Amino acid sequence: MLFWRLGAATFWDPDEAHYAQTSVELIASGDWLAPYYNAQPFFDKPVLFHLLQSIPMRMLGPTEGASRLVPALAALTSLPVAPAGGAIRGEPAARSAAAPGGSGAANAAAVFVSSVPVTSRRWCFWNSRSASRVEGPKKRIHHLCFGTTAAELPQIQKTLEGNGVRLLDPPNEMGPEASGLWFHDPDGLFVNVKAADRKPSRTDPPWIVNTPGHYGRLNARGAPGRDLAVKPRRLGHTIVFTPDVDRKLDFYTKNLGMRLSDRSGDLIAFMHTAPPSDHHVLALLKDNKSGFHHASFEVGSVDEIEIGAQRLIDKGYRNGWGFGRHVLGSNFFHYIRDPWNSLAEYFCDIDVIPDGATWDARDWPAEDSLYLWGPPTPDDFGRNYEAD
Ligand SMILES: [Fe+2]
Repeated sequence: MLFWRLGAATFWDPDEAHYAQTSVELIASGDWLAPYYNAQPFFDKPVLFHLLQSIPMRMLGPTEGASRLVPALAALTSLPVAPAGGAIRGEPAARSAAAPGGSGAANAAAVFVSSVPVTSRRWCFWNSRSASRVEGPKKRIHHLCFGTTAAELPQIQKTLEGNGVRLLDPPNEMGPEASGLWFHDPDGLFVNVKAADRKPSRTDPPWIVNTPGHYGRLNARGAPGRDLAVKPRRLGHTIVFTPDVDRKLDFYTKNLGMRLSDRSGDLIAFMHTAPPSDHHVLALLKDNKSGFHHASFEVGSVDEIEIGAQRLIDKGYRNGWGFGRHVLGSNFFHYIRDPWNSLAEYFCDIDVIPDGATWDARDWPAEDSLYLWGPPTPDDFGRNYEAD
C-alpha cells in the first residue's frame, strides 16, 4: 500500500510542489548546502531532506514517483510507531500512499511547480460566473471580481470615492483583462468591479420529482444513469476569511450595495447583491487572517452533486464534506478539497431572493451556521490554509 500509485498522482498541494522544485534546483545549482526555490533561498525543510530527495530524482528523473520515494521510505520506517489507522480521514489513496506517516512526508511528496502554476485565484461572479488562476509562489486568493452594468459603473466609482476608498492601478499580472475599478477592501484584498453582461443562470428543464400528493414524474424512472454528465452551470458564491466580519460587511454594504442575508453572530455573515440574487454570493468567515475558504458551483440536482463528488473522490481528491443541507441558504452541498487545500462546493436548490423582494435577515445560533443535516463536520473544514 505504501508505494501504490507513488508516481501516478499529480501534485497534491503547493508544499509538495515547492519541496520537489527546491530539490530540482538543488540538483541544477550543485549547491548542496543552500536550498533555493525560484532562485530564492528557501529553508522550509532541512537541506538534508532535499539532499535525500534529490538522489532518486537524479537517478530516475524529476518525476512524481522519484520525488515521493524518499518520503515513502521515511514513512515506512515510522510504521512501527504509527497508530493503527493513522491515515488522515478522507485522504485519497494516492496521498495516503505517499504520506502514511504524517504531514511531513505529505509535504515532501511533490511534483513540479512548473507544471502546476496554480496558487492565486481570482473569482468573478454574478455576471462572469467564473474562477481562474494566476501564478504565484503560494496559494492565496488574488482578488474578488464583481460585474455590473456599464451605466452603473460610474455611480459605483462615485460612491467609492465619496467614501474615501482609494482607487488603484490594476495588478500588473492582470494584463489586458484588468478593466473596471480596482481597490482594496479593509483586509487588503483586491476587489475589481467591471462592466459585464449578466448571464442567464437557470436554463435547465425543470427537475420533476414525486412528493406526497404531487406526483409529477409518472411512468418514468427517476434515477439517472451512472454516466450522468455533471456540469457546473455557474459559480454561485464564494466564502472568504476575515479577521473582522462586521468591518468587512460594512464595507461591502456601503460601497457595493450588498445586503446582509443571514449571519451567525461574529462567526459568519452571508451577503447577497441587489435582487434578484441567490441567498449569498459572498460570505465572510471569521479567522485571524484573511484568505479564501471555498467557491461554490451550481449543478442541476442532488444526483449531480453526489455523482460529481464521488467521481472526484475516486480520482484521488480529498472529500471536503458532504453530502448535506445547509440551513443558511438551504442548499444541498458536497465539498471537495482541491490540491491546494481550498474547497470547491457542488450545490443545488439554494434560496433565491426575487427582484423587488426584501430578505428577512436573521442572526442564527451557531449550531445553524453550518448545516441542518449531514456527516460530522471535518476538523479542518473551517481552517484557513492561507494563514499557515
Ligand atoms: Fe457554499
